[in-house]
Amino acid sequence: MYRQLMVRPVTAPPAAAAVLLFSKTSAVPPAYAPIDRLAGGALAAALARTEFSASRGSVSVLYPDQSGAAKGFERLFVLGVGDVDKFTLEGVRIAAAKLLRAAWTSKVTSVRLDVAAIAGDADLEAVGRALGDGLAIANFEFDAFKGTAAPGSAGSASSGKKAASPAPLDFTIELDPSQKQLRAGIERSLTLGDSVNLARTLAATPPNVANPQYLAAKARAIAKETGLKCRVIEASEAAKLGMGGLLAVGGAGSAPPVMITLEHKPKGLKNAKAPVMVVGKAVTFDTGGYSIKPADSMDRMKYDKCGGCAVLAIMHAVATLDLPIHVVGVVPSAENMISERAYRPGDIVRFFNGVTSEITNTDAEGRVILADALSWGITTYKPRAVVDMATLTGGVVVALGSACAGAFCPDPDLRSHLFDAADDTGERLWHLPLWDEYRQLIKGTHGDIVNAGTREASPCQGAAFLSYFIEPDGREGIPTLPWAHLDIAGVADVKGDTGLFPKGPTGFGVRLLVRALETWDAKGA
Ligand code: BES
Ligand code: MN
Ligand code: ZN
Repeated sequence: MYRQLMVRPVTAPPAAAAVLLFSKTSAVPPAYAPIDRLAGGALAAALARTEFSASRGSVSVLYPDQSGAAKGFERLFVLGVGDVDKFTLEGVRIAAAKLLRAAWTSKVTSVRLDVAAIAGDADLEAVGRALGDGLAIANFEFDAFKGTAAPGSAGSASSGKKAASPAPLDFTIELDPSQKQLRAGIERSLTLGDSVNLARTLAATPPNVANPQYLAAKARAIAKETGLKCRVIEASEAAKLGMGGLLAVGGAGSAPPVMITLEHKPKGLKNAKAPVMVVGKAVTFDTGGYSIKPADSMDRMKYDKCGGCAVLAIMHAVATLDLPIHVVGVVPSAENMISERAYRPGDIVRFFNGVTSEITNTDAEGRVILADALSWGITTYKPRAVVDMATLTGGVVVALGSACAGAFCPDPDLRSHLFDAADDTGERLWHLPLWDEYRQLIKGTHGDIVNAGTREASPCQGAAFLSYFIEPDGREGIPTLPWAHLDIAGVADVKGDTGLFPKGPTGFGVRLLVRALETWDAKGA
């Protein structure tokens, strides 16, 4: 695919131009008249045809008549964003992704882009961010494990000889120099896109390679590259600290479990405040353990590390964008396997904060490693707010499908802040309840709580379990520290092309949380 995405001011007419258009546009919008002139009136001709409609997600490639006098564009990409009265920035993201794919197909390496007809008086920087999102998301291909033609390369799946694929091309967007905000938005999202794609690459890496130690090594590499501070708590130290949950889940793993932390503390930050903490579940493979999953529920369980991969990528982004905010990322990572070292149903586990849980189901493992991550992280870093992301329950997929993540957030300010960021980024959230009734569902008999109660309200039970690890004495009630739990089980990967994403991991949460972090102190939360 493309290697580097760039933005620069318009130079001489490039070989191609692209415009974004509302569907049912009947005549060339005045803003596009200059471009259409250089396209020999191709847009006007297309719009005159009744069958032409720039429907949402459509790409039309127009080939201007080159016989005229003036040298103009060889191609004009017309990208539909749908009806004017149903316009959303998601339409712009999809259009940008389609543009890059179409450009790739025709080996076009630069286009002059104009969006004036759809931008109207919209915030141009936001339009730019959406364009950059779509371009970056389309600029991703996970092919490290493809085409291992070399014989005997089994066991080192990624080191085999690659099948011949076309060399990646760089791609440049050319903008009118006056469009500074648009350009700033695109450039910000292209930078962020590298982090989104880092999350997707980590998530797609198979479980025979990406075990907890692999993620720890990646975290160290990210820290080295970006200047973040990295600390990895290995199993022996976790035992001394009393992280009984992490050790229980990771007991049978092919590699020992780890607690990974990355910290971004900008130098010279005025009014340095307590950090915002982001926590992500990284179960590198979830067999279910002795409460084993049926085969057809197990096959995508390499994606059970997506919350953690998103947190590593968020930390990568806050460092590369150099956001003026103190952020800590905590990623508990374990592999949920079966062996004589595996934890059992019936075990009672003691967590870092002293709370104990009966293990009623070894497949409810995410909350068990998050319990230590949350209570240890909050004790250690004393954050002003906490957001965790986890592929926690199948129940949230039953309830909400892949349209949004389930969001538990009793604090109204944090909730509205996160929901604004969700609106801005198209990484949608839906508010789910966390009441004391759900905490009652997981009361234990011989331990304080159980890790899985009855089948009722499973996502809410998950959130209720985590609520025991937010305050110093989690037994007391619903926490008051601003905290959000995002159950991303339905959105971490997609099963087929969505227009924006191809089948595979989405990096869900990276764009959402980075938007929340970059606006945190401006809007207050
Ligand atoms: N990783 C799964 C949740 C999941 C399911 C993620 C489907 C993505 C797609 C999690 O560890 C799990 O197994 N949860 C159980 C909890 C139950 C035993 C209380 C579930 O939801 O079935
Ligand atoms: Mn599980
Ligand atoms: Zn899991």
